[in-house]
Amino acid sequence: MTSISRATSVFRKNLFQGKTAIVTGGGTGIGKGITQELLYLGCKVMIASRKIDKLKSAADEIKRSFDFESENLQFVECNIRKEDQVKNMMQTTIERFGKIDFLVNNSGGQFYSPASNINSKGFNAVIETNLVGTFYCCKAAYDLYMKENGGCIVNIIANMFNGWPGMSHSGAARAGVDNLTKSLAVEWAPNGIRINSVAPGSSIFSDTAAANYGSSEIFDNQIPRIPAKRLGTVEEVSGVVCYLLSPAASFITGETVRIDGGQSLYSTSILWEVPG
Ligand code: ADE
Repeated sequence: MTSISRATSVFRKNLFQGKTAIVTGGGTGIGKGITQELLYLGCKVMIASRKIDKLKSAADEIKRSFDFESENLQFVECNIRKEDQVKNMMQTTIERFGKIDFLVNNSGGQFYSPASNINSKGFNAVIETNLVGTFYCCKAAYDLYMKENGGCIVNIIANMFNGWPGMSHSGAARAGVDNLTKSLAVEWAPNGIRINSVAPGSSIFSDTAAANYGSSEIFDNQIPRIPAKRLGTVEEVSGVVCYLLSPAASFITGETVRIDGGQSLYSTSILWEVPG
């Protein structure tokens, strides 16, 4: 199974005309799908990640994938663990696009390991990227633009609500982001800011995730345990993100939307078999 590379949307074309977005990790996987749909809807998009050469080739590939104003897609190098780089990402976006209406915190990373084999360096690295880095991004967007002008933030987390065996560091970090989302939703509501989370299940197939796992077997093995009896697509995540960013969700904040075809209600642990 491969994801659809063509941008599509159930939303009205130009819905986001005049809007600007930052999508961290916007050049690959789910982030790329979100970037494509935002561009399709007329949004200007700044994608960001650690490696400038990969960002450039991702931007070139997205530009080839469908028709849109090519200057609507820009990229900036940013390691979200470094607060000065996060501030630079915000400032660069304001310089290039004039404003930041939307922030999609999609960058993240982890490695599969039983907790007994995770050392302090590995644990801290995953917390720093997924939780602290997301906080830096929210805070810098607030300080440098949204505090005065309002805005909308979507945090991409993961379906870790019953724990995440084999990914304990990431589960703890993503649960932290879920809680952070709710605190910021209340604190920043007076500034006209909405902030929500989406939690894609491990059943969302993307070429990037399959490459990271080294095969698509881990996806196919899940199908019997997904009530929908199929994998989800990147487009099924980006549609929810666009909905949350849109005026259709103007009274929704501090919410978390699971995108998993009912998988978390049925069976959650796909990586970890209890020994014995
Ligand atoms: N993707 C994975 N780790 C990241 C980081 N530290 N900064 C930006 N994007 C990332």
